[in-house]
Amino acid sequence: MANIIRKPAWALSESLATPEDVFLNRRQLIKGWGMAGLGLAAAATLKPGRGFAAQDATADLYPAKRNPAYTIDGDITPEDINATYNNFYEFGSHKQIWKAAQALKTDPWDIEIGGLVEEPMTIGFEDLLRRMSLEERLYRHRCVEAWSMTVPWTGFALADLVAMAKPLSSAKYIQFETFLDPDVATGQKQSWYPWPYVEGVTIEEAANDLGFMVTGAYGHPMQKQFGAPLRLALPWKYGFKSIKSIRRIHFTDKRPVSFWETVGPGEYGFWANVNPGVPHARWSQKQEKVLQTGLYIPTQMFNGYSDQVAHLYKDMKGQQLYM
Ligand code: MTE
Repeated sequence: MANIIRKPAWALSESLATPEDVFLNRRQLIKGWGMAGLGLAAAATLKPGRGFAAQDATADLYPAKRNPAYTIDGDITPEDINATYNNFYEFGSHKQIWKAAQALKTDPWDIEIGGLVEEPMTIGFEDLLRRMSLEERLYRHRCVEAWSMTVPWTGFALADLVAMAKPLSSAKYIQFETFLDPDVATGQKQSWYPWPYVEGVTIEEAANDLGFMVTGAYGHPMQKQFGAPLRLALPWKYGFKSIKSIRRIHFTDKRPVSFWETVGPGEYGFWANVNPGVPHARWSQKQEKVLQTGLYIPTQMFNGYSDQVAHLYKDMKGQQLYM
């Protein structure tokens, strides 16, 4: 795994310029850690902040009924492990951001839906939730950094959000944006990053059943470090596509340029579909380390969701579908 990358002058260090904690991982590998690295070490000694509260205005909606159509082989990653090993660059470029993330104020939280839609709107998070029908789904999550987890997410279909927004026929893509508040999220003071975090999908991808707007996890409102109050889960794509703490949803005819695509266009692309046969520019994607065991397992095409999504990309020649 080559450790030298070309980076623009504004990028301070490799570990800051990529969502992959390549330094950490290498050090941990060299040490031969049998668990899952610093995240797990932290999990053993720290109690994750319970970033949701019983008084959360939407707490009565949980636990939602599990939809058996979305299940996994194997075990669910325990919440305490998941909640102490996160990527949320708004709060720091390391995995132990859970404490800092508690500063995020998630109520009130308005979401702006606009662009090429019949009627642009701004809707409060609670209003949105009470319009939607919540369910629980067990999903795999495969980070581009080659670790993985399995999570019981609660939320509603991305397709239902699209239906509510009533896009015009000219809308080809959806752009999602995270909040922008450097006073709270001090990572956003790192001006060499193109804040706010942006991600996007095509309208066809958004119509796929797997696209999920996440509002809860582990049977209750989502902890802040997971991207409360509203994040995306696109389990067939590398984890960086699953944008957290969404404030703005914009329908457009232009392909969005995502946060990581702006930072490292040679390493992170728009499609970012999981493919074990296509290495990242600096490491293999053949295997992934399971967060809760530290064991390596083979990575699956589309992260195991080929039956549901492979048809979306069948006729796309010449596109970089797997980075
Ligand atoms: N969304 C925002 N706004 N900021 C981020 O730094 N990191 C992404 C994604 N969504 C990120 C984000 C990456 S790289 C991954 S792997 C997942 O969130 C991590 O989700 P988790 O912390 O719940 O495991």
